[in-house]
Amino acid sequence: MSVALVSGSAGLIGSETSKRFHAEGFDIIGIDNDMRSRFFGPEASTAMARMQLQKSLKMYRHEDMDICDNGRIDSLFGALGRDIKVVIHTAAQPSHDWAARNPHMDFHVNALGTLNLLEATRRHCPEAIFIFTSTNKVYGDTPNHLPLVELETSYEIDPSHPYHSGIDEMMSIDQSKHSLFGVSKLAGDLLVQEYGRYFEMKTVCFRGGCLTGPAHAGTELHGFLAYLMKCTAKGLPYRVFGYKGKQVRDNIHSHDLVNAFWEFFKAPRSAEVYNIGGGRHSYCSMLQAIDACERISGRKLNWSYVEDNRLGDHVGGSVVSRSSGGIIRNGTTSTIFTGSLMKFTMLFGRPSNRSCYASPVSPSRRRGLAAKSVLYDARMLEAFPDFVAAIQRRCITSGQTQRVVLSNV
Ligand SMILES: NC(=O)c1ccc[n+]([C@@H]2O[C@H](COP(=O)([O-])OP(=O)(O)OC[C@H]3O[C@@H](n4cnc5c(N)ncnc54)[C@H](O)[C@@H]3O)[C@@H](O)[C@H]2O)c1
Repeated sequence: MSVALVSGSAGLIGSETSKRFHAEGFDIIGIDNDMRSRFFGPEASTAMARMQLQKSLKMYRHEDMDICDNGRIDSLFGALGRDIKVVIHTAAQPSHDWAARNPHMDFHVNALGTLNLLEATRRHCPEAIFIFTSTNKVYGDTPNHLPLVELETSYEIDPSHPYHSGIDEMMSIDQSKHSLFGVSKLAGDLLVQEYGRYFEMKTVCFRGGCLTGPAHAGTELHGFLAYLMKCTAKGLPYRVFGYKGKQVRDNIHSHDLVNAFWEFFKAPRSAEVYNIGGGRHSYCSMLQAIDACERISGRKLNWSYVEDNRLGDHVGGSVVSRSSGGIIRNGTTSTIFTGSLMKFTMLFGRPSNRSCYASPVSPSRRRGLAAKSVLYDARMLEAFPDFVAAIQRRCITSGQTQRVVLSNV
């Protein structure tokens, strides 16, 4: 038996991971105790996602377990032993603001929970590959000290700066304000690296910016794009904190991140670290995100501005891996993915069809198209006739390949 053990399996990244590794033939053991509803209230519960996994994945087994409960974690790993081929650790307390309210709990989940999973892996299945969802917050507010240029609706890194096209993993993680959440995640990140270096296990940290996708249970404190679109669609009030709303978010779709997990699984290394973001193709400022949600939904967002920024928030810049601009070094995974696709997905709450961004748009196919064009699968669009009608004027269909090219949706 080949087991993929997924912590946080009912969350945004965990559920996508469970589905993907299940499709690749793994038995999935999912650990999730719906802690998200304890952090953020019932609207953030991931219980529904858990039920869907149980219903739709034949080889999925759920463990309603707290990763902080070292005894139960160790027993579970002990029972499965070397059948565990990969551990994908996505469970976390994910919010800056919540961490400041309860630093002990935050550190327990993010640091100690990570240690429990690493140690259980080392004891019972040391050959298993350990994949950790870290965060770009490990760099603290250092990105804010880059030379930033204020534009009409966003902050940009000075075009002459080497990090203009993305911040790589050589940025210091030291001497900056991280927020307590940033610190607890960094503790987990360093532990994961150390188990790679010290014990020579195959471990990796993926440091994401804003992760997004249809499975996000968005709330004010976490899951900004999902929550923003929810507020726009439902007429709920939304607050923007500081930086004139020009702070930039680097968004990556859960599907693309999980693709990167898969590529790493196929060609693992020890103690690897990758920044992983959508890069220039998919980042946007708060103001731009609001504008996009309003254009897509045809509704005005009821938003207000709060002068004080969130502590530890990033102002500008996207994160990219040193390995070729956001594309994981050893694989074919493409993170070419535009904000348009993400907004589309957020609006309709449907998983996007992988074929629409499994391969980058080749230069020859892009010729004559706007710089931000993206290929979509026409079959996906058929499911949303209203949306298609709204964008038809901007579509060019290529009948043979069943694909649609959209620009600037
Ligand atoms: N979403 C983002 O924008 C973002 C950005 C950077 C990094 N990350 C990291 O990616 C990972 C996944 O994020 P996500 O957006 O999928 O989060 P999520 O909140 O959607 O999913 C996390 C899941 O873990 C579960 N969980 C939390 N604590 C647990 C515990 N002690 N025991 C068992 N289960 C527990 C929650 O119930 C939830 O279902 C996290 O490690 C997060 O820090 C997320």
